[in-house]
Amino acid sequence: MFNDQKVSFSGVQPSGNLTIGNYLGALRNFSHYSEAYKCFYCVVDEHAITVRQNPADLRRRTYETLALYIACGLDPNKNTLYVQSHVHEHAELAWILDCFTMFGELSRMTQFKDKSAKHADNVNAGLFTYPTLMAADILLYQTDVVPVGIDQKQHVELTRDIANRFNQLYPDTFTVPEPVVSSTGMKIMSLAEPTKKMSKSDENVNAVVYILDDKDTIIRKFKRAVTDSDTEVRYADEKPGIQNLINIYSCFTGKKIPEIEQEFRGVGYGEFKLAVGEACSQALEGVQNAFKELMSDKKQLEDLMKKGSEEASWYARRTLGKVRKKLGFIQL
Ligand code: TRP
Repeated sequence: MFNDQKVSFSGVQPSGNLTIGNYLGALRNFSHYSEAYKCFYCVVDEHAITVRQNPADLRRRTYETLALYIACGLDPNKNTLYVQSHVHEHAELAWILDCFTMFGELSRMTQFKDKSAKHADNVNAGLFTYPTLMAADILLYQTDVVPVGIDQKQHVELTRDIANRFNQLYPDTFTVPEPVVSSTGMKIMSLAEPTKKMSKSDENVNAVVYILDDKDTIIRKFKRAVTDSDTEVRYADEKPGIQNLINIYSCFTGKKIPEIEQEFRGVGYGEFKLAVGEACSQALEGVQNAFKELMSDKKQLEDLMKKGSEEASWYARRTLGKVRKKLGFIQL
């Protein structure tokens, strides 16, 4: 809570490869949040370097991530959109929080265990303290709610523990945030294995439709979608492939399920899949055009980053100033 306004904060890794699952389940609905909350969306480039990055790719993806968020409907005038490394208070508070976080707590984090197994040749200290930087992101803004995927819930819970511990020693420092794991929006499944969630890191590119895929690619992927040996476009649990395609079609067109079954009665799967591909590519066209336009003007994106980081800094400075004073650091 900042000045009587509820705060929502979320961080996003700089990766341009967002899927239609991210779009339908999250991005498309983000703009509604800004009615009730002061919203911060931060592109977390400092978190990204916990695994090795190619500098040119990291730079490009940082621009792309910001552009994609705006293209999906986040208004930079109603939300604070910025890049983590542009607000130095994040790294500074992270160090302080490191001193209030226990080795054992960090050792228990599932993501640390997974990532250190995956990058066994580079188990660096940043990978280990990743959650305290995330706690700093959240606590700097006196955040009330943190919309995250289920995989990040444990980190938000650790953030709560750190905030409570700090508040016990130095009362009234931080708002204690709540994780909000979104259950709204349809769960979009893989096109290759329709009982599995569509994931941006799936190795099979045909299983996943990306927001930035061109029309031909989208149609080709839907044509190859795994279905069943039946021919009827009917919404049923024993037909997970068709069920997923009906869900996707419904999300993009706003049509209800019975209406869709009616529309494709007596029509083969081929024609139905083509219709789903067309509805999807048509709906994404506006997002893609907006994205292209934003990416063609780096200067404008940089101006937006600058505006965002200035806004964010104002909040971050206030919290960090309070923390420094409480700890006993001298204010000159
Ligand atoms: N760790 C998050 C992820 O990988 C990204 C993130 C960084 C984040 N800081 C955050 C999410 C603060 C929510 C709040 O998805």
